[in-house]
Parts: sequence; C-alpha cells; structure tokens
Amino acid sequence: MRFRFPVLALLIFIAVVFSRCESPVSDLHPTNLRCEYLEDPIAINEAAPRLGWELEASGRNRAQTAYQVLVASTAELLAKDLGDLWNSGKVTSDETVNLSYRGGELTSRVSCFWKVRVWDQNNVSSDWSSVAQWSMGLLDSTDWQAKWIGYDAALYDTIAFGPQPWGNGITRKTEYRPLPCPYLRKEFKLNENIESAKVYITALGIYELHINGERVGKDYFTPGWTDYNKRIYYNAYDISSLLRQGENTIAVILADGWYAGNIADRGQHYYGKHLRLKAQLEIQREGNEPIVLITDGSWKAAFGALREADMQAGETYDARLEPIGWRNIGFDDSQWSDVVESDSITAPLEAYPSKTVQKIEEIKPIAVYETRPGVYVADMGQNFAGWANISINEKRGDTITLRFAEKLEADSSLYTRNLRGARASDTYVSKGDGVEVWEPRFTYHGFQYVEISGFSKPLSEEDITGIVVHSNLERTGSFSSSSELINEIYKNIFWSQRSNYFDVPTDCPQRDERAGWMGDAQVFMRTASYNMDVASFYKKWLVDVSDAQKDDGRFTSVAPNMGVRYGTAWGDAGVICPWLFHDIYNDTNAMSKYYHGMSRWLQFLEDNSENNLSSVITFGDWQNVNSETPTEVISTAYFKRSTELMAKMAGVLGRETDAKKYNTLSDKIRESFSEKLVNDSGHVQGRTQTGYLMALAFDLVPDSVRPILVDHLISDIAKRDTAISTGILGTHLLLPTLAENGHLDLAYKLLLKTDFPSWGHHVENGATTIWERWDGYSDEKGFIEEDINSLNHYAYGSIGEWMYSTIAGIQSDGPGFKHIVIHPKPGGGLTQAEATYKSIRGSIRSSWKLNEDTFSLDVNIPPNTTALIYMPSTVMHTIKESGQMISTSKEFEFKRFDSTTTVIKVGSGNYRFTSDFGAR
Ligand code: BGC
Repeated sequence: MRFRFPVLALLIFIAVVFSRCESPVSDLHPTNLRCEYLEDPIAINEAAPRLGWELEASGRNRAQTAYQVLVASTAELLAKDLGDLWNSGKVTSDETVNLSYRGGELTSRVSCFWKVRVWDQNNVSSDWSSVAQWSMGLLDSTDWQAKWIGYDAALYDTIAFGPQPWGNGITRKTEYRPLPCPYLRKEFKLNENIESAKVYITALGIYELHINGERVGKDYFTPGWTDYNKRIYYNAYDISSLLRQGENTIAVILADGWYAGNIADRGQHYYGKHLRLKAQLEIQREGNEPIVLITDGSWKAAFGALREADMQAGETYDARLEPIGWRNIGFDDSQWSDVVESDSITAPLEAYPSKTVQKIEEIKPIAVYETRPGVYVADMGQNFAGWANISINEKRGDTITLRFAEKLEADSSLYTRNLRGARASDTYVSKGDGVEVWEPRFTYHGFQYVEISGFSKPLSEEDITGIVVHSNLERTGSFSSSSELINEIYKNIFWSQRSNYFDVPTDCPQRDERAGWMGDAQVFMRTASYNMDVASFYKKWLVDVSDAQKDDGRFTSVAPNMGVRYGTAWGDAGVICPWLFHDIYNDTNAMSKYYHGMSRWLQFLEDNSENNLSSVITFGDWQNVNSETPTEVISTAYFKRSTELMAKMAGVLGRETDAKKYNTLSDKIRESFSEKLVNDSGHVQGRTQTGYLMALAFDLVPDSVRPILVDHLISDIAKRDTAISTGILGTHLLLPTLAENGHLDLAYKLLLKTDFPSWGHHVENGATTIWERWDGYSDEKGFIEEDINSLNHYAYGSIGEWMYSTIAGIQSDGPGFKHIVIHPKPGGGLTQAEATYKSIRGSIRSSWKLNEDTFSLDVNIPPNTTALIYMPSTVMHTIKESGQMISTSKEFEFKRFDSTTTVIKVGSGNYRFTSDFGAR
C-alpha cells in the first residue's frame, strides 16, 4: 500500500516526460499521391517523373510551408524511413504538384516506393503519407527481346460491305473487306514458385491478353491510338497472381483497331494491314534467376470465332468456331499455324502515358418494343458510346444481329443516315448451348437504340445491358442549379464528353469519323477539365498533336493525323492546349517540350500573312447558322490569339526576348485587324456574331471601340429574335464575352432559350447529349437531310466552362488553382446553383442560394490555397460569415469594392457567407 503513490507518480512523470518529447503532429495531411498524374503507375517513361499530392486538413487557413519526399527501392526500406533512391530532405516550399524526382538515376524496371510528409503554417510536420509507388518502364530499345509476330493467312472472309441489311442510308466511300481476328498462343513451364512477374505488351492493331484463361487487366483498345510510324505505346501488367508453378498458357487475340481497321472515312489499312503482337513476360522466380518469355516464332496461331472486328463496322462472332480451351493449358494446337516474325517495325516503344479505355458503367433499357415481327428495339434512354451485352438462348447456327442508332425514324426504324460509312452492327452466331451471354470488345458504337433481330422468343429488358465505354478518367466536377433546363444541358455536355474522350478527344462516336479534331478539342478543353481529370489524357494527346506536325511548321487539324487538311483554329490547338494545360494544372512541361514546335507554327502563320493579316485557310465557324465568318477574320483573330499566348508562355519559361518579340507581333496583328477588318462604324468584316465575339474576346480592337462592337453584337442577336448564329468557334466565346461586357442577362437568356437555335431546343427535342448542329432534328421538322448530323458532338458544349466559372463562379487566379476565385454571377431567374471541382490542389465548392433579397454562399477552399470571394453587395455590414459581420473579423481580408460586389480574401476552409443581394 505504502508504495502505491510513489509508483503511480513515477509512471505519470514518465508519461509526461515522454509525451513532451514526442513532437506534435499536424493534421495537414498529404493524400492522393500521384506520379505523372497516375496512381501507382507500373511503367513510367520519364527519367525524372513528376510527383504530386493533395492536402487534407481540418479548420481554416491551413498551408504547407515545407515538404519531404522519400523514395526507396523497396517497401521495407521506406518503412524504415530510408529513401535510398531519394531523400529530398526538408524543402521549404508550398508546392504540391509537378515536383520532379531528383534522386539517383532510375533505370528500366526499377520499382520506386515513396511517401511524403509536410510541415504546416506553424512549422509542425504531418505524419508520413501512405505509401505510393511507381515503376520505371522499359526505357531502352535493347530492353526488348521480344519479336513482333503475326498471323498473315491470306484468308479474306466473304463479309463485304453490301446494301442490305445495313442499308438505310449508310454510304461508304471505300470498300470494306474484313479479316477474322488472329488468335495467338503459347504454353510454357515454370519449375519454381513465382515471386513476381510483369508482362510488357503491345500491338499493331489492338489486343486482348489472357493468362491461364484469365483476361489480363480491365483495359480495352490497347495500346491506344498513335501515329504508329512515329511511336507505339505498350502496356504493362503485374501478372504475379496469374502465373503458377508448372504449365502456363499465354493467349492473345488481335484485332484491327485504328491501325488496320476503318478510321474516319479513310477506309481500312490507313497505317498498315498486318496485325502484329509483341509481348515480354519478365518473371522473378524463387531461388533462381529471373526468366524472360517472349513472343517469337515458336508461337502458334489460328482464326477463331471472331470473324470480323472493326471499330466502325462492328463485330461478328460465330460461337460455333470457338476453339474450346485455347486460352488454357492442354489445348491441342498441333493443327495451328506457325506465326510470322517481322523485323521491319522501327517506331520506338513507350509506356502508355495515360488512362486506358475501360468499361465504366452499365445501363438497362428504359423500354423494349417489337417494331416489326421478330425485330425488337431497346431504348437505352441515353445516347452514349460503348456496346450492348446480350443474353441469347437460341438454336445452334441461329444468327442474332444488333444494329445501333442514336435516334429512331418516324416509323420506328433506326435513323442510320448520319452514320455514313459506319455499318455499326454486331452479329452473333449461336452455338446452341443454352444461355449464351455475349458482348463485343474490339468495336464500339455511339447509340441510344439497339435493334435486335434473330430472336425466336420476345426480347425482354433483362436480356440486354448497355455498356458505357470510354477513357477511365476520374470525374472531377459536378454542377446543379434551380433551372432544370440548365441541369439537362450540363448533363448532356457530360455525356458527350464521356462518349468522346476515347483515348483521343474525338468529335463524335457514331459515324465514320471519330477523329481527334483539334478545333473541337481546344474549345472544349477547359470544360473537359472541370468535368474530369484530363491531365494525363491531354498529356498523351499533345504527343499526338506534336507527332502530326509537318516539316513546314503546320499543325494538322486532326491528331493523330489521317491526311486531313490543316486550318487555323484547329491547328492553333497546338499552341492553345499547352497554354491551357499550364493554366489548369500548373504544368509547364507541355509548353517547354513543344515550345520549338509552337514557334514553328507561329512562323508558318507569319509566313502566310501579309501586313499581319493571316491568309491561312480554316474550316470556318463550323456549324454556324447561315452566318459564315470570313476566313481572314477567323485566321487573323487566331493568329493574334496564338501569338499572344506564345508571348505569355515565353514569359513563363523565362524567354524574355521571345516574349517581347511575340508581344510586338501580337500588337501589330491587333492594329492590322482593327484597321483592315473593322470599318469606321465598328463593323467587323462579315458582320457575324462570331466576328464580333472574336474581336472582343481576343482583344483585337482598341478599348474605345469595344462598346461599339458590343452594340453590334447585341443588335445582331436582337435582330434574330434573341438568337445566336454561332458555330463551334463563336459559341465557345459567346456567354463569357456577353457576361464580361455588361450583358449577363442576355447570356442567361440565350442559355435558357428553348426555340431554335439553342441548347434548350435540343433538350426539348429529346437530346441526351450535345448535338453537332443546331438544326439536326426537331419533332416538328424531323431530321435535317444531311449526313453531317452527329447527335453526340461535344463542341457546342464548351459552355460547360461558363456554368462552373460564372454561374457557380469557380475560377483560378493564375495557374493551377493555387489562388482561387469564387465569383458567382446569379441571373436568369435562378435561385440556386452549386458546383464542385476537384482541382489539382483539392476540392473546391461553391454553392449559392438567393432567397428574396438575401444571398447565401457556401464555399469550400482546399488547404494550401487562398480564395478571393466576390459577394454581390457593396454594403459591408450586410456581409456575414456564419452569422458574424466580416468587417468585425480579422480572418477576412477586405480587398476592394467592385461596382456591385465586395471582394474579400480568405484562406482554406469551409465558409458560409450571407449578404443582402445587390445592396449598394
Ligand atoms: C467534324 C467537326 C470538325 C470539322 C472540321 C467535322 O467533320 O465532325 O467536329 O471540327 O469536321 O470542320
């Protein structure tokens, strides 16, 4: 008893001393670690990959003042806090993105385990983050022992393109003669247990890989679309769990893909005819040397059930011809042929730098009906890109045909006239084995309706599922408001992006086009980046843009290129997109990597101009309403735009002489534009809305003249009964330019219109995606008699950016959302709007409500950033945060009054502001 008190006291003393020794830990915590914008990538090309993280924290005004990165070659070393590859030490910096690895040299295959900790605004450090990793890819051509192999049996199938049953207006410029898909296989024995194994695999064409009967990975259309003469991507997979001691089988199906199949209206074989495969398995064995298994002449090949697979035409699968068990060991391939080896392929191999195309979502039909005896149509309720999964229970040899369309004709047949040469049909021949569940994998369609024929029993909704397929890009944004119409338009924009962000940003997913049109991509890039994490996607596509550039400096109009002519506004994407990349992701890599190419394009523009007026051709303001803007106006406007951006990029990169040079040129173009293309009464040549919009948005006239141009723009809109006449180039500039020039009301009015031409008109006529033309279809008039009539074309959807940045008010002040602006501009009778955006630095939210005269604004600002908040009142005492007058709080820094708003600066955290609305 007597000892109790002293013992307790001693224990307390020890506890206190120890707790004092332990330093406090900050809850500012690094999460979401990324390497080259990817989560735990397995093959990285970059010698010095860039790392980044987001920060989480409670409370307000949280900031990073320093960080430490550890990179280790094993997880064990990292667990002991040993960064044998790189220990950055404590680096005083608030940067969290695009930090280049600065450790020891990284050679092929090296595994890197990494973690980071940060110090907060009080210099208190966080715990270490959870462990992330990356591995280096095969960096050198000598790393590849595998041979290119293929199966070139000259077996032309009889499935040629014919008028029926594909007819209904489908017209082709080129012959279509598909070949069956090569099946390739190889068995091999492993005598030891497997420690780990990776496969590096690529194809000319697209491939599907199986190991011991299991499909490897979730990716489709790999290795993606490039100019295969310039570079070919490979994919890497960890296959440790798929291999086993003893006999193993590797099996691959090849299909035409972009390489040999139909692309755009160029027909088949644009890049080449002969499908090829290259794969290398690198296996670490227990207690033995690693071994490498490769594609070579010892593989066997045959044709199987896949009689044709073309991205536009569709797939034909004859289940009776399935070589049962061919993907597993013990299959008798003695009758299979030898493969051919080829050594003529010289394009460099690089690890795929982005996120692959995958199956993203399943949707069930909203209705199934019989349109003719035995012919059923399933309405999926949503236009999208992908395919249908179908359950079949028919007799051996029975043929089921699936045809796809975006809309129905008045007689309930499929509207296929807008598919042009894309047959868009899949065929399945039953093996008669009970229920057979089938879906294609080497084709995709843009559709809302599927017509199914060949069923002997009525088709039920249970039998069919829509599979939504696109690049697996994380969703980063959301938008909603009190206007159902705007919400519908927003949803349509999002679905058109989903349908077209398919390895490259395509124009449309249904007809014989599906190409990386650069004009569309540049006008939509900002909208795209609010909706989804497109960093790695654009990083990949900018390589395509650069690969396509011509020797004389011309950027093409489509990337990867397919021999399409060039034109300004499309080619200018080569300059605009690297700039936007920096603006959105605080990433200077693209601008420095492509600086030389961009300056060559600028030189090309200069060489093709006279007195600073550009004479470069263009595709015009695509899909305008009888309101063609003269080429010289568009081309000179874009000449100025690109020159100005080039000057800015030169400035960011510290190339002061160039910045000066381009600024001078930009001023000269501006002068010439306003002198030669704007008359004395302020009319821009051509007198189109797009002409005025470009002149205003690209700063092409002196400030004193701007109001006159604004008046002309407004009166043109009024003259048309408050309607727009813009195509994709003008539409992109319309709402921001109106709002920024004192016509917010008109911007809202145009957005909320439901008569022709407007986004609302599309919605009223059943659109579930953005359409290519304003007059594509109406219930009243039916379809336009044109085959250029995509009903899933994101370009007009470039107004999505305005919803995020102006209706909800989320913007960035400078690159990469380090300094955020929350400047919502209520209007159009909206009583509420909310957007979220997961920026490169974390999640931002702006949500406002208008209640009678009271305005409330909920804001979330991520740690380590600041924000300027624009409250729509200039009477300070009406502005409160969580009920407290902001003027009495030290937490808010008053910045300035604008004409109708008060601007205050805040640090990170969650806020609830209120004010009288519009009080002055
Ligand atoms: C595409 C457009 C593209 C245009 C160029 C079309 O066929 O679908 O989106 O920008 O060509 O004028």
